[in-house]
Amino acid sequence: MAETPETNKPDFRNGFPIRDLRDGSMISGRADGEELVLGRRGDEFFAIGAHCTHYGGPLVEGLIVGDTVRCPWHHACFSLLNGEPLRAPALDPVPCWRVERLGDKLFVREKLPPPAPKRGTESPSSVMIVGGGAAGLAGADMLRREGYDGPLTIVSADASPPVDRPNLSKDYLAGTAQEEWIPLRPSDYYRDRRIDLLLDSRVSSLDTKRRRIVLESGKALEFGALLLATGADPIRLPIEGATDSQLHYLRAFADSKAIIAKATSAKRVVVVGASFIGLEVAASLRARGILVDVVAPGSQPLERIMGAELGLFIRKLHEAHGVTFHLGETVSGVNGRAVTLTGGTVVDADFLVLGVGVRPSLALAEQAGLTIDRGILVNEYLETSVAGIFAAGDAARWPHPHTGERIRVEHWVVAERQGQVAARNILGRREKFDAVPFFWSQHYDVRINYVGHAEKWDAIEIDGSLDARDCAVAYKKGGRTLATVTISRDLRSLHAEAAMEAEIRSQKRDVA
Ligand SMILES: Cc1cc2nc3c(=O)[nH]c(=O)nc-3n(C[C@H](O)[C@H](O)[C@H](O)COP(=O)(O)OP(=O)(O)OC[C@H]3O[C@@H](n4cnc5c(N)ncnc54)[C@H](O)[C@@H]3O)c2cc1C
Ligand code: FES
Repeated sequence: MAETPETNKPDFRNGFPIRDLRDGSMISGRADGEELVLGRRGDEFFAIGAHCTHYGGPLVEGLIVGDTVRCPWHHACFSLLNGEPLRAPALDPVPCWRVERLGDKLFVREKLPPPAPKRGTESPSSVMIVGGGAAGLAGADMLRREGYDGPLTIVSADASPPVDRPNLSKDYLAGTAQEEWIPLRPSDYYRDRRIDLLLDSRVSSLDTKRRRIVLESGKALEFGALLLATGADPIRLPIEGATDSQLHYLRAFADSKAIIAKATSAKRVVVVGASFIGLEVAASLRARGILVDVVAPGSQPLERIMGAELGLFIRKLHEAHGVTFHLGETVSGVNGRAVTLTGGTVVDADFLVLGVGVRPSLALAEQAGLTIDRGILVNEYLETSVAGIFAAGDAARWPHPHTGERIRVEHWVVAERQGQVAARNILGRREKFDAVPFFWSQHYDVRINYVGHAEKWDAIEIDGSLDARDCAVAYKKGGRTLATVTISRDLRSLHAEAAMEAEIRSQKRDVA
């Protein structure tokens, strides 16, 4: 019988030569039928499950940083000591094994116990989270992981429990991800952790002095500490002649389902905006065999965020998959199926998807009198201008230690990590949010990873080849790399993240 690749892998129960494991490296193998990775840092050895608990990324292709391992796909960070998911997007631990060194060999022994539950605390008296998205769920999850035993409520305007929002424009919309994969947690998760999840419930006012929120239904709820994780809302464009049923936006699970419902009988769609979401929608609808016209005012897609070269690459990638671009134009009007562009072209479409950006959801924070500056202003601990009220995710603007600027981003991983740090700070930990921003975007079989933050740059350096889809693109200002985009170079992306983290640490030392 032919050997499978799995059976070719070393069985770590039988011993593995130390000399074959370089410092800082990892190798995959197995033990009792389970796939795992053996890693080395100096004279310390670790054995950890082979797959990331986010989307199953291969940890062996990741990076060891201190006593953590980083996932190559979307930069989740796990403890090598006990498998704890230290940083999102993974929310669940990976198993770890004890490693014994005997002579010049390493032996993987028994599985280690999972991360121990933290000692319980009931302070603050209760925690209210407004927003059932990335930051809200990750915050609630972390509060319970950190041993918070008090009342914990998530109030969400969404009709569905927290979902894997990035999937809504990717595999789910393309029809390759099942509906059951979309909720971030099953319903019994909330019951088991005593998280009161109020869905379809919009908070209409916040009284910071009396420490209470009021729902649109009129119900008032008091809180000890509050996390505002209200995210962002799609910008809505009035389009002359278009009916509401012709125009689609994409933020919630229901929006993705509505587009899919239309797509089942549609032949042509116009996507307005060449943003990440617009282009991911274009790719997913192409996967469904629908003809897609993208209309956008810029000269290249994504040029403002990633520069002209990458913009051209993205455009060619989509064109190769049959997308037609109408750049330097917008939609001037719709008449039935006829979509007229500002340049005079008329395009036939069953419906339109508008992906023209988002605005942070600030109404509640504004009404409550919190300090706002194009986002809810928070300090390095993610606390707003009112003590005990924190903000995280797309709605928050925070001091980014790498550049010293206050920034607001729309990245899944940042929102989750901020929710996690805010949760610990609600429990009094005084932890600074100093993670390096990261996001990814998927276009057909090309994943673009972006680490760092560069709103402006004076040089772009491309290492490798965009056409070969194998490159790292550095965005530099004054000779310093502010951000790096990679395609097919996941390890490079992790190294770029680690280098920026080291810079932040050394800046902190200089200040101290
Ligand atoms: C289709 C799509 C694809 C994406 N793909 C990627 C990707 O590939 N990579 C990436 O890095 N990022 C991606 N993003 C961005 C990412 O999803 C966001 O950055 C992230 O969801 C922000 O998390 P958040 O918790 O701040 O906000 P959200 O996840 O939007 O959650 C906000 C929550 O607040 C609720 N809310 C708002 N106001 C109120 C109120 N007054 N009362 C009660 N509830 C309220 C909303 O109902 C919602 O539940 C994508 C976004 C979309 C829409
Ligand atoms: S698969 Fe590991 S972070 Fe996404």
